[in-house]
Amino acid sequence: VRHTVPAGMDRKESDAYLRLDPARLPQHIAIIMDGNGRWARRRHMPRVAGHRAGVAAVRSTVETAARIGIPALTLYAFSEENWKKRPKTEVDFLMRLLCRYLKAEIKTLNQNNIRLEYIGRKQELPENVQCEMNDASEATHGNTGMVLTLALNYSARSEIVDAFRSLAEAAARNGGLHHLKVDEQSISEHLYTRNLPDPDLVIRTSGEMRLSNFLLWQLAYAEIYVTQTLWPDFRGVQLLEGIEEYQRRERRYGGLGQDPGHVHEHAKVPAHAEGKH
Ligand code: IPE
Ligand code: IPE
Ligand code: MG
Repeated sequence: VRHTVPAGMDRKESDAYLRLDPARLPQHIAIIMDGNGRWARRRHMPRVAGHRAGVAAVRSTVETAARIGIPALTLYAFSEENWKKRPKTEVDFLMRLLCRYLKAEIKTLNQNNIRLEYIGRKQELPENVQCEMNDASEATHGNTGMVLTLALNYSARSEIVDAFRSLAEAAARNGGLHHLKVDEQSISEHLYTRNLPDPDLVIRTSGEMRLSNFLLWQLAYAEIYVTQTLWPDFRGVQLLEGIEEYQRRERRYGGLGQDPGHVHEHAKVPAHAEGKH
């Protein structure tokens, strides 16, 4: 029995959606939105034109993810390293673009029942940007559908540092360092992502095969999907293609998985080979 296509999808998206198993969708998808500069350079345009064009990709991806019922989507918008190492003109442009996006998007986010959250060292961003960020997340606070998390001024190593500091401070408040409890659960509970499940799928656009300091703890067992598509050309249909590839993967978590080839490995050893070593 074919599942029904959510309203508002075009032909290509519906076809891609019908190839998916709706019962095995990733619960959390994380995306490294890369390739804006290269997109612009190919068109002999300034890098910032690529960032501007990337907004349409964000809209389409967010809308499709929400429509098909993905519970959590996290977008790497800019890293702490981007913020520290790129020219001020580019950083300023990204800040203005972010503010404009936040203002313009509130209505659509509410229409789609999406709650907006952030990860990253927000306190280091310009105050007016922090204001816009707070306004937008407050405006979507009551929504119960997909959680959209924007990683802004984000670094996974900084996140882990902040988690350890917060663990130590919590222990100090509770009567001293002998109350410090360090295990996987307590560390996870002090990360910025404490309210999110670990991503099942991480997508990187523009062909780069690296994590660039994104969710290092949380991506431990995520499936990695790299597409050559540059971020400004990415749309909902490419998201669905990434999910299709995800559904073809076998997740083993260090175990032996489902492949009969190794489940019954022992039984395949010919009788005469037994005991000869
Ligand atoms: C990704 O595009 C957006 C940000 C990192 C802010 P890039 O700006 O990294 O584009 P490329 O990698 O130079 O093509
Ligand atoms: C990673 O892309 C950060 C974002 C996409 C926001 P970069 O373009 O900064 O990564 P590197 O420098 O190529 O590793
Ligand atoms: Mg890049």
